[in-house]
Amino acid sequence: MEPSSGRLPGLEATRPHMEPRASCPAAAPSVERQFRVLVGVTGSVAALKLPLLVSQLLDIPGLEVAVVTTERAKHFYSPQDIPVTLYSDADEWEMWKCRSDPVLHIDLRRWADLMLVAPLDANTLGKVASGICDNLLTCVIRAWDRGKPLLFCPAMNTAMWEHPLTSQQVGQLQAFGYIEIPCVAKKLVCGDQGLGAMAEVDTIVDKVKEVLSQHALSAGLNPGSL
Ligand SMILES: Cc1cc2nc3c(=O)[nH]c(=O)nc-3n(C[C@H](O)[C@H](O)[C@H](O)COP(=O)(O)O)c2cc1C
Repeated sequence: MEPSSGRLPGLEATRPHMEPRASCPAAAPSVERQFRVLVGVTGSVAALKLPLLVSQLLDIPGLEVAVVTTERAKHFYSPQDIPVTLYSDADEWEMWKCRSDPVLHIDLRRWADLMLVAPLDANTLGKVASGICDNLLTCVIRAWDRGKPLLFCPAMNTAMWEHPLTSQQVGQLQAFGYIEIPCVAKKLVCGDQGLGAMAEVDTIVDKVKEVLSQHALSAGLNPGSL
């Protein structure tokens, strides 16, 4: 899949071997630049809410958003409903042809001020907890700068949620310093009733605002617009 715009927003500034240019927004003083939120989306049915989530994030003044998707997540939304740059596995490999080319997962982890994985399905939860990085999203997370916030929103069937592996793996992510936005109980799309549904989009967006405003000053960003 082609990214929806030609380059990663602010990409040049993330590449240390390139000179900043006057026309590059990220060459401006850092207090004036936008917060950059990277949304990771995985193959849970809760990925149906990706368009709503992105739209509500874009309503926050001063926020720039990009999305990294797994292949399975693509089943649950239409790219034309996502009005920001959308990256998937093919982009990583199409972008890199020779030594001077960008390594997308590294550029993305440099670019973002905050990562939000919503929804985080059981498969990717297990991978991240054990360090597996076999696609663009898990490579970004494996390379994540743990000085920056990473928020995750588990979403899975109740039987998966109640399996003892889940609490172990969620605990492992918390031990890395990542912030859980807990799942909620409701009637799931599969018909089961119980815990495992992704937190409501409003809850997720409120938490992003809270964490960004806490993180802004230490990151040299202007929290005034949040
Ligand atoms: C219709 C459908 C809905 C699914 N919903 C979920 C879900 O909510 N949570 C989950 O953990 N897995 C769910 N799965 C299973 C994942 O899609 C599957 O584990 C997949 O391999 C995840 O890949 P990814 O982690 O690379 O996105 C669902 C599968 C299907 C077919």
